[in-house]
Amino acid sequence: MTTQSKHLEASSYSIISLEPTQTYALRQAVLWPDKPLTYVQLPDDAAGQHFGALVGGELRAVISLFVAGAEARFRKFATDPAWQGRGLGTALLRHITAVARAQGARTLGCDARMSTLPFYRRFGLAPAGDVFYKGDLAYVKLSCLL
Ligand SMILES: CC(C)(COP(=O)(O)OP(=O)(O)OC[C@H]1O[C@@H](n2cnc3c(N)ncnc32)[C@H](O)[C@@H]1OP(=O)(O)O)[C@@H](O)C(=O)NCCC(=O)NCCS
Repeated sequence: MTTQSKHLEASSYSIISLEPTQTYALRQAVLWPDKPLTYVQLPDDAAGQHFGALVGGELRAVISLFVAGAEARFRKFATDPAWQGRGLGTALLRHITAVARAQGARTLGCDARMSTLPFYRRFGLAPAGDVFYKGDLAYVKLSCLL
């Protein structure tokens, strides 16, 4: 009997750079489906670096990185629900970690939904503040050393 991993082979996806506008549809559909598209556009998007995971030419996950000196943070991290748990999020997080480190950042952080804390702990990201709320959703600041 063979067991098949649900994780994608590295050869079956690619990570590419995106323009901010290319991230909006996935950001909105995954993170804020009840809000308009304008809600997921950040004032500092132009200052960020945006990446996506492509499978078969289709964009299935996005993440946005902001590096300011020794501090890097990522925002608007989202994988298409039909593709979650296949390794795309891990690949994107590893990618931005390498990019941030190469650009001189020494810490990496984010505002995380509490529901994703177990995922982020796998990468050494740990709570660095109190729980706060955006609407009904509980968040916490996470940080790790690079
Ligand atoms: C968080 C998110 C971006 C992760 O992307 P992903 O492509 O699903 O990540 P991966 O497939 O690399 O997941 C790696 C592992 O973490 C697990 N995992 C993913 N999200 C998890 C979560 N919220 N809680 C616990 N485990 C989680 C996966 O099941 C997988 O487990 P496995 O290796 O044992 O099979 C994605 O789940 C998502 O878009 N969630 C909804 C939006 C969201 O909450 N974004 C983050 C806002 S802070």
